[in-house]
Order: sequence, then C-alpha cells, then structure tokens
Amino acid sequence: MEQRTSTRTALVTGAGRGIGRAIAERLAADGLLVAVHYGRSEHAAAEVVAGIRARGGHAFALGAEFGVDGDVDALHAGLDSGLREHAGEVALDVLVNNAAIPHSAGPIERETPETFDPVFAVNVRTPFFLIQRALPILRDGGRIITISSGVTRIALPEMIGYAMSKGAMDTMTMTLAKQLGAHGITVNSVAPGYVDTDANASWLRGNPEAERRAAGEAALGRVGQPSDIADVVAFLASEDGRWVTGHLVDATGGARL
Ligand SMILES: NC(=O)c1ccc[n+]([C@@H]2O[C@H](COP(=O)([O-])OP(=O)(O)OC[C@H]3O[C@@H](n4cnc5c(N)ncnc54)[C@H](OP(=O)(O)O)[C@@H]3O)[C@@H](O)[C@H]2O)c1
Repeated sequence: MEQRTSTRTALVTGAGRGIGRAIAERLAADGLLVAVHYGRSEHAAAEVVAGIRARGGHAFALGAEFGVDGDVDALHAGLDSGLREHAGEVALDVLVNNAAIPHSAGPIERETPETFDPVFAVNVRTPFFLIQRALPILRDGGRIITISSGVTRIALPEMIGYAMSKGAMDTMTMTLAKQLGAHGITVNSVAPGYVDTDANASWLRGNPEAERRAAGEAALGRVGQPSDIADVVAFLASEDGRWVTGHLVDATGGARL
C-alpha cells in the first residue's frame, strides 16, 4: 500500500474544550490531521472539528468516557476507524494526553477512596494504557506529550490527590522517554499554572480580586490562556522539538519563582 508520508496525525484527548481544544486547533493549523477526543462534550467536539475544517484543516471527533471499563478499547475503535477513513492508514505521530479531572477533594483529611480513585483512574490509569495501546501505531519520530500541572512543583495541600496523579505522569514521562528514544520518539510533559478554562471558571471568571491574585502568582503577571499552553505543545510536537525528551516543561508563566 502506498505510504502517505504527507499526513502527520495527532490524537488530543479532552479536546472539546479548554486547553485540549486549543491544542487541537493549533496542531490542525500546523497541518496535522487531528483526532478530537471528547468524554461528554460531544457537541463541543463537533464544533471544534467544524471550525478546523472551515479553516482548511483536517480533523475528526471520537468519544470515549475515561475511567470506565472498556475506555481504551472504545477510544482506539474510534481512533482506528477515523485514521483509516481520513488518513488512509492507522498510524499516529503525536499523542497528547490532556483529558483529566482537574481537581481533587483534598486536603488529605477530606479524601476518601471514592474521591481518590476516579482521579487516578482518569488522570493516570487510562492515559497509561492508552499509550500502551498506541505504541504499535506510533510512528518512529513520534511524540507523546502529557499535560501535567505546576502542582508537581508547587505544594498545594488542598489538591494533594490531583497533584499526586500528575506526579505519576511526570515519572512516566521520564521513564518512557528512555525506552522510546531508540525509535526517535520523544516523551515530554507540559505543566500549566492557572489557565482560564472551565476548570477554574467558578472562582476565577467575573471575580477581579481572584484574577488579580492568580495573576500575581506568575512572574509574567497574568492568568494563562489555553493558547499559551498549546503553543508549547506545538513546539514539542514539531520537528524543532526533536532534541527534547524526558522533560517537564514549566509553562506556568513563572508561578511562585
Ligand atoms: N486550567 C488550569 O488552570 C490547569 C492547570 C494545570 C493543569 N491543567 C491540566 O490541563 C488539562 C486540561 O485542563 P482544562 O483546564 O482544559 O480542563 P477542563 O476545561 O475542565 O477540561 C477537562 C477536559 O478533560 C476531559 N475529561 C475530564 N474527565 C473526563 C473523563 N472521565 N473522560 C473523558 N474525558 C474527560 C473533558 O472532556 P469532556 O468535557 O468531553 O468530558 C475536558 O475536555 C488537564 O490535564 C488539567 O489537569 C489545567
């Protein structure tokens, strides 16, 4: 079968909204065919795909709820058929693990197995096995990029469960980078600080005092926007990022330096 070397492909999880949406839109603008994954936001993901296509890009949507039995099977069923239809072959160049439960019940006194387990299921277990399943279709020279968090560098006791889940992924990044380097595959994490997304809407939006405080944590003096993170991911995903691996890129705007 003819090899289509011209179509680089990407999967972005949780790409219907927030940071994932910005990453999907940026990678599509860079010419990649983007698989726009959603959990519950089917309508939003369809809008992302429509917007990408309206700008001349290429994308398709696929749904899979994380943290439930069969999640990785469901995702790969949608991914494989979408890649076959839109790229002509089942091959991936860039895998962006973005979907996550962006909070936890902490501090430690408030956590229970019922609050703790879903965070680790969605933020660690599913992406780990998703990567495992993606490795056979990840082309040499590929990229695995995980959205971590500044909370692995800055101690926030009220988010301990979430922070631990991101710390687990940081360790995965470093460890997997060593194994996959032989294939020219880079594995990196990007750690945002406060970013204006739905995850922070309840306390940030329409609250100038909260915004001032959040902005004051960053050396660069403002709250992050999803595109601030997407641009870093785009660099790591590009040819220019080929010599960076096993690294956690701090993209907090210099939070609490
Ligand atoms: N915003 C910040 O300040 C900030 C800071 C540091 C790190 N981060 C990290 O950045 C990433 C994106 O965060 P965000 O702020 O864009 O969050 P968000 O607006 O709350 O969006 C969360 C995304 O994760 C997906 N998701 C959540 N639970 C899921 C599940 N069970 N199954 C499938 N998908 C699921 C959602 O998909 P559906 O809507 O389709 O269900 C959504 O696309 C996360 O990894 C987060 O931890 C964010």
